[in-house]
Amino acid sequence: MSVQRESMHGMWSGRLAFILAATGSAVGLGNIWKFPYIAGENGGGAFVLLYLFCIALIGIPIMMSEVMLGRRGRQNPINTMRTLALEENARPSWHWLGWMGVIAGILILSYYSVIAGWALSYFKDAVFGTFDGISAETAGSHFGGLVGSWWVLLLWHTLFMMMTMFVVSKGVRGGLERAVTLLMPALLVLLLIMVGYAMKSGAFAQGMSFLFDADFSKLSPESALTAMGHAFFTLSLGMGAIMVYGSYLPEKVSISKAVISIALADTAVALLAGMAIFPIVFANGLEPGSGPGLIFTTLPIAFGQMPFGVIFASLFFLLLIFAAWSSAISLVEPAVAWLIEKTHISRLRASVLMGLLTWFIGIGTVFSFNIWAEAKVSGKTFFDWMDYLTANVMLPFGGVLIAIFAAWVMRKESSSDELKMGAMGYSLWRFLTRYLAIICVLIVMMKVTGLLDLVLAKAGL
Ligand code: TRP
Repeated sequence: MSVQRESMHGMWSGRLAFILAATGSAVGLGNIWKFPYIAGENGGGAFVLLYLFCIALIGIPIMMSEVMLGRRGRQNPINTMRTLALEENARPSWHWLGWMGVIAGILILSYYSVIAGWALSYFKDAVFGTFDGISAETAGSHFGGLVGSWWVLLLWHTLFMMMTMFVVSKGVRGGLERAVTLLMPALLVLLLIMVGYAMKSGAFAQGMSFLFDADFSKLSPESALTAMGHAFFTLSLGMGAIMVYGSYLPEKVSISKAVISIALADTAVALLAGMAIFPIVFANGLEPGSGPGLIFTTLPIAFGQMPFGVIFASLFFLLLIFAAWSSAISLVEPAVAWLIEKTHISRLRASVLMGLLTWFIGIGTVFSFNIWAEAKVSGKTFFDWMDYLTANVMLPFGGVLIAIFAAWVMRKESSSDELKMGAMGYSLWRFLTRYLAIICVLIVMMKVTGLLDLVLAKAGL
């Protein structure tokens, strides 16, 4: 029984268009800015291994589930969940899952845009040759100078939000889809060049051993949660972004193959970024756990020393901006699609409203690096809290609910009809989603909240 529904927002031109757009969403600041700095903060190897494990065994099955739900529902996440729940004789209250996604997307974009603003500012510096022959010390104080002035950050944040809402107001399948076709491969090539440079001039062996030698004694429950949360973040999972993209997916495209290609590309970019950055970190005696500024304080040093550094630096930050841009639009698209379907206002108006709301929340993150830097709650700034609540709580929680819906609530006929895989592949997806993914997420969450130890103690273990 095939369900024939059409999305009111149109359709991807085909399989490749979907893969490129979804890869554009997945590959972003998460891969190049966040992955290296959290790997650095959490001791490297063991964290990286756990992250890879989460991508393969939790991320891929849940991503398939999310695309599948989107394609079957063909609406914004809220209406999709309501429609599918009714169809499967489940409670319509499943639409709250869509709500959480819309909210999570806006919260993530509010700080994502501020960080993307750093990339905008660094692009300007790169073009003007600011990094020429820069020392590690100057690179550090340059970054400190940028984040120290709130009005400069606010300016760049405002510019990035305007760029994002401009594309969203034109409809996601317009210009950026085409731009990404060219820019993603270019980013990959540039990262390879950076890794080549790190191999020659950095402490390559030390960097590699930091990234890939796993010492599990360094891994705390918090690190495990960060690794798992990042698997969701980097694949854009758990909040309906991929569900919306799935809702524009033509009927005949194989979901499993598309999802595996996206996950592989995403992981490759993250690992290459790590391989480019850590050798430079160690060669210059920098601190791998120095936090969100990591790439902004290390890469300029490399650019400052290499031949044609000005060109490479400009190109790198330009591509980083595009990677962030194509991710940002997917963070707000669910909210905009919902607002249009709900109120029938124009796409332009919906984009402006959502953009203003997100921009406003982002001011909290702007201040987190300067005037509110010391205003901490339980040791975390506003930005830290936004990041923690979204990546480590809302996304895994949303992901588990998606898995439960796809593999427990939905009838087998519906999911196999939509996934259209061979018997073996289908059974594997179902097993991973039904048991492994759900149990792993719950265990990590319980361990972090201390609930697991409580239950184990009760059971006398
Ligand atoms: N995956 C993107 C990155 O790594 C960020 C992102 C875009 C995202 N859309 C998302 C994260 C949806 C979570 C959910 O930069």
